[in-house]
Amino acid sequence: MKRIFSGMQPTSQLHLGNYLGALKNWVDLQKENDAERLFCVVDLHAVTMPYDHKQLSQATLEIAAAYIAAGIDPKKSILFVQSHAPEHSQLMWLLATMAQMGKLERMTQFKDKAGKNTERVGLGLFAYPVLMAADILAYKATHVPVGEDQKQHLELTRDLASTFNTRYGVDFFPQPEPVIAGPAPRVMSLRDGTSKMSKSADSDMTRINLIDTPDMISKKIKKAKTDSDPMPETLEELEGRPEAMNLVTIYAALAGIPKEEVVRQYAGQMFGSFKPALIDVAVNHLAPITNRMNELLENKDQIEDALREGAVKARKISSPILAEVQKIMGFTK
Ligand code: AMP
Ligand code: TRP
Repeated sequence: MKRIFSGMQPTSQLHLGNYLGALKNWVDLQKENDAERLFCVVDLHAVTMPYDHKQLSQATLEIAAAYIAAGIDPKKSILFVQSHAPEHSQLMWLLATMAQMGKLERMTQFKDKAGKNTERVGLGLFAYPVLMAADILAYKATHVPVGEDQKQHLELTRDLASTFNTRYGVDFFPQPEPVIAGPAPRVMSLRDGTSKMSKSADSDMTRINLIDTPDMISKKIKKAKTDSDPMPETLEELEGRPEAMNLVTIYAALAGIPKEEVVRQYAGQMFGSFKPALIDVAVNHLAPITNRMNELLENKDQIEDALREGAVKARKISSPILAEVQKIMGFTK
């Protein structure tokens, strides 16, 4: 059976890149009847970089609220918090014994986050991808819907799964497939079409957050960088115009139409007149999600109950898998 697993960190508010690159695809995957789905708020990952411990549990609830508001239905998917299922950390240690330092050192996200001063970087940040592998393998997940930037971590997960199988002479872990789907697997910054939209960018004007009001969305899109050429006749002609391409991609993804059609509809128009249309599409799509999120956060008990039930369901799957791993590795008979 197909088992889908994915997660996001409660490090700050989700933005349009998280939504279009990952969350929206998770919601679409709920249409598949023959699959089991687990969506996790990965709070253990969030503490690998400096963070505000007074805000962590609230941030976790906000991400869970965003999942539900975007359409993740706790009846159709198992929605839970990573730290509520200790199997993840336990399996991580076991997998860590098989993870090669050299491979971890090559992870681009690690290099980006560690910066130049690697001597002072915490072991948690270095081992982050091993915990991610444990998240996935603790459920023997077969499919992992993520944005493009997570591809390398998935490769490492696949590598650890086969190292385990080879070392212990078993056919135990499946090879999880990355599902990099949807029309916008890499949403770019509104201010620089060559860098991805990210929560760590200094300026809030580079991203649209799921909690932004219609006014903020409008302001950010109006100020988004473009060039002085009009919309071309074909999509191919947008090559080499990263900012323009990004706005077209966002429009297409939110409106649910192909990029070619967006180009056809607005061919010949300047971006100054395309932007109001984009604002309309963005506000119409995002405002209901934002409103629902705010409503959910007014009654936290409801989210907390859903997460508690989710953890029980998740552990019913991961705890026997961990027990099997312990047996295979010789801890138990
Ligand atoms: P993160 O913000 O790193 O916790 O990412 C959570 C999820 O959102 C992951 O699946 C990422 O691949 C995805 N994601 C993050 N930023 C972007 C982006 N700019 N475009 C598309 N997907 C993204
Ligand atoms: N590393 C992922 C990110 O930064 C988050 C993550 C942690 C994840 N564990 C996972 C994604 C397991 C998919 C599956 O976005």
